[in-house]
Amino acid sequence: MQLWKGRFKKELSKTTNDFNSSISFDSRMYKEDIEGSIAHATMLGRCGIIKEEEANDIVKGLKGILADIENGTLHIDMEAEDIHTFIEGELTKRIGDNGKRLHTSRSRNDQVAVDIKLYLKKEVVNVKNLVVGLIKVIADKAEKYSETVMPGYTHLQRAQPITFGHHLLAYGEMLLRDVSRLEDCLKRMDEMPLGSCALAGTTYPIDRTITAELLGFDRITNNSLDGVSDRDYCIEFASVLSIIMVHLSRFSEEIIMWCSWEFKFIELDDAFSTGSSIMPQKKNPDIAELVRGKSGRVFGDNMTLLTIMKGTALAYNKDMQEDKEAIFDALDTVKMCLTAFTPMLDTMRVIPENMRKAAAGGFINATDCADWLTKNGVPFRDAYKATGELVARCIELGTDLESLPMDEYKKVCDVFNDDVYSAISLERCTNERTVFGGPASANVKAQAKRVAEIAEKL
Ligand code: ARG
Repeated sequence: MQLWKGRFKKELSKTTNDFNSSISFDSRMYKEDIEGSIAHATMLGRCGIIKEEEANDIVKGLKGILADIENGTLHIDMEAEDIHTFIEGELTKRIGDNGKRLHTSRSRNDQVAVDIKLYLKKEVVNVKNLVVGLIKVIADKAEKYSETVMPGYTHLQRAQPITFGHHLLAYGEMLLRDVSRLEDCLKRMDEMPLGSCALAGTTYPIDRTITAELLGFDRITNNSLDGVSDRDYCIEFASVLSIIMVHLSRFSEEIIMWCSWEFKFIELDDAFSTGSSIMPQKKNPDIAELVRGKSGRVFGDNMTLLTIMKGTALAYNKDMQEDKEAIFDALDTVKMCLTAFTPMLDTMRVIPENMRKAAAGGFINATDCADWLTKNGVPFRDAYKATGELVARCIELGTDLESLPMDEYKKVCDVFNDDVYSAISLERCTNERTVFGGPASANVKAQAKRVAEIAEKL
């Protein structure tokens, strides 16, 4: 069954039909398609474009279709061209001629746009809730490990001491930005395109604000060409999803490293690890690796959407039917990743002794040693150089700054005295970093509380 019969003398070939059809991926929007049609029919009735009884008949028929799809008695026909065609065809089958009045002053072009927006508006909120769930776990762990000293890295070289809670809260910040991006994207998406019709609006005296209100949109689109040809909301959502995946992927990479015997900062729960078919000793962080890998998929979907849109003249072009597989795949992937990632993080076992051991090596208190000199009157650049010489001397002697004898310190700079030893202890190096945004445990506790409170209200 095609909606566009009259002009054509031949049937579509089977291969063309299959090639042209989008039902295999747009059938998931059946509910939104029906909601949109109910609102449209109601508006047509209220505006006197069709009779109230006709509108009621259509609405009743559509509600019946929805109920039957949901209770499993009506199967969506995968031979139909798309979900819009299927529902309209089914409606006419059920209620006869009144079903044929539904498409008055409407095109599939504005219909598909409203369907996608209705569908994605709900999903943006679902993704947001999943992100918030992860933020809560992070805040909880950050509070728990606010005193756990670990090395902070740059270039993957031990750099300066931080706390594990501080490290986790960095991801909390990224994810809070993701939530605000999702909220932003939702605001821009909240514009109702119905009434744009094919591209040029309509001569019928419709009232678009009625439809917008019935469908819960904030406002209506301002330009009919833009209303049907805009897919910014797909691109923007996919971009936000891509950024979420960047964050999950970086986090995954660290989890993978931390699980290795080289680090052993954490151990994942058995329920979130897998073994090897040949190496009996293996416990692999597959979930984290898959999340890292799946980020590529989401970036690909984002690029697909950009590429689909970049060369299409206004207004609708069939290229745009390709939007759905890309945005749905990105959406499904991100939801799946978050659903696996959050409990994996929640159940990990942290091994503070190993973090501390790593923090004790690698001269991560060298900056603090230079800072001690500076606080005792030596210009920072000279203090930096002197400390560099001390580190070189430690490497020669196979020792660390804490154990290097005072006469070695004095050889490099006679300002040094025994007070330096306590100033470069790991505890003080960490806990004196009380600058706002820093890793001292008091700061981390306060930040963990702040993040948890924000998340609670999201
Ligand atoms: N299945 C189409 C899509 O997803 C619906 C719009 C069809 N419009 C048209 N003029 N062929 O984009």
